[in-house]
Amino acid sequence: MRPMIAGNWKMNGLLAQLVEIETIAVACAASPPQADCLICPPATLLALAARLAAGRIAIGAQTCDAGISGAYTGDISANMCRNAGASAVILGHSERRRFHGETNEQVSTKVRAAWAAGLLAIVCIGETERQRVEGRTRTVLDDQMDGSLPDGLTAQTTVVAHEPLWSIGTGLTPEPAEIEAVHARIRQALVARFGDEGLSVNILYGGSVTPDNARDILQLANVDGALVGGASLDAIAFEAILRSA
Ligand code: PGA
Repeated sequence: MRPMIAGNWKMNGLLAQLVEIETIAVACAASPPQADCLICPPATLLALAARLAAGRIAIGAQTCDAGISGAYTGDISANMCRNAGASAVILGHSERRRFHGETNEQVSTKVRAAWAAGLLAIVCIGETERQRVEGRTRTVLDDQMDGSLPDGLTAQTTVVAHEPLWSIGTGLTPEPAEIEAVHARIRQALVARFGDEGLSVNILYGGSVTPDNARDILQLANVDGALVGGASLDAIAFEAILRSA
């Protein structure tokens, strides 16, 4: 399966940082990588980023609303993201779940809205350090997948990103064996629910992926790419991760 390396800029990025996107787009055009390359800048930069990328790399949003249009001050619909040039959207990131109270049910509704707008939905799941220590990782992830992934999912429309919360932005990553065990479980759950389609869904790992650890992580079984936060802000670091796939 073709891996995907996705960059999540979070609440970072002013106009001046668009040069990072242009640099990666130029590099990908000159020497196509072995992985799909996606960058998700803040919504304010979506249209400009998509214009700069000019199809050489994909551009995505970091969330969207479930509605289509209307009196929802501050919200942005999936269709608006699509119209601005996005081809994907990250949904249910742990920071959205934590700071904005997003529930599995809301994430699921957003995934349907993303599909309807023609966006690839990158659905994030992840366990806290406490849940991990208590041996509840599997139950927590199963529950998040059950609730956040709608029926009718296909590998073309959906990617699952597993991001241990304790690994995000901390420089800590799970041991390779732990990543493989958790991703094997995610694959098993996808196949149990979606049949053969579940075999082709990309499962990304996210949490402190850097140019130094990317190669080791990306070669693990059932790791079909990475969702990269901090290291995606710098074109050189992000390209190094992209070329590790
Ligand atoms: P990080 O973030 O790479 O900075 O740990 C990953 C994420 O939250 O997507």
